[in-house]
Formats: sequence, structure tokens, C-alpha cells
Amino acid sequence: MIITLLGYMGSGKSTIGAHLATILEYEFIDLDNFIEEKVQLSVKEIFNAKGEIYFRKLENACLKEIYALKNNIVLSLGGGTPCFSGNMELINSENSKSIYLKLLPKSLSDRLFLEKEQRPLISHLKTEDDLIEFIAIHLFERQSYYSQAAHVIATDKLTVKETVESIVRVLY
Ligand code: S3P
Repeated sequence: MIITLLGYMGSGKSTIGAHLATILEYEFIDLDNFIEEKVQLSVKEIFNAKGEIYFRKLENACLKEIYALKNNIVLSLGGGTPCFSGNMELINSENSKSIYLKLLPKSLSDRLFLEKEQRPLISHLKTEDDLIEFIAIHLFERQSYYSQAAHVIATDKLTVKETVESIVRVLY
């Protein structure tokens, strides 16, 4: 089985995914890292050198490769992965269980403000208010994709441990 974690940037997909994989004794794959290793460039460098469309094509190719070749893994996606290239169909394919880690814009902004330089889509935003406003609009646009996940878990008030426990509960 493939357990796929999706959600906005800063929703904790990678941290939660790594913990969940340890508990389940599954392999952990972070899609952004997988892409970075494949092309030997950071996500930021790919966006800067080749642009977003190139990144989305690469993201789709890597996602297909992982679903075709891997089993018993926890896969953490990039924030935009569900919203491009028909990826949500792959994400909800027979062998995959998808989980949306849902947070409010304010919680996301609190987490992202200090880390935004590494994230090409938000690195231009100067103030926290600008960031919250951007996230609120962007989340609204992405909502129809994220909500196709098999399970939705609101994690604003949960610790990493509690989030992992909630995931295990909905899965088994
Ligand atoms: C993106 C999210 C990033 C990364 C890229 C684009 C997005 O991943 O894939 O910068 O479109 O939301 P994280 O959600 O891991 O930050």
C-alpha cells in the first residue's frame, strides 16, 4: 500500500510522513527530495532555471514512477502536486490511500513566514499580512483538489504525535 500525504506548503507533510513511516515500518519518500535527487537541483533552482511548467512535468513523471515501482511506502507530496497534470487520479489509485493535512491560513502563515525563501511561490511576499492573504486565496483555489483526498485531518491543534495517531486510526 502507498499512503499519500497531501496539503498546503507548511502543513507538515514531510515531518508527519517520516514519523508515520517509522511507525508502520514503511519506506518514506518525500516527492520534492525525490525530484531534487533525480535532477541534482533544488526545487528553487528548478523553478529559477526552468520555470514552473517544467517543474510540474517533472513532478508528474516522478509521481508516476513512484506509484508504478514502489509499495509499502509513505509518500509526502509537494503542496501543488494534487492540482496539476491529473495527478489526483494517480493519488487516489487503487493501491494508494490519500490523507489531506488541513490547516487554517493563519497556522500555515505562522509556520511559513520564516521559511519562505526556499519556497519559490511565496518568497516574494514581504509581510505576514501579505503571506496570510496569499495563502487564503491560494488555498481556496486548491481546495477542490485537496478535498478529493480519501481522508481529511484538521491538524491546527494537534502535535506531530497526535497527528500520526489520527492517521493510523483512520487507516486501520
Ligand atoms: C509547491 C510546494 C513545494 C514545492 C514547490 C511548489 C506548491 O512543496 O513542491 O515549491 O505548489 O505548493 P512543499 O509543500 O513541500 O513546500
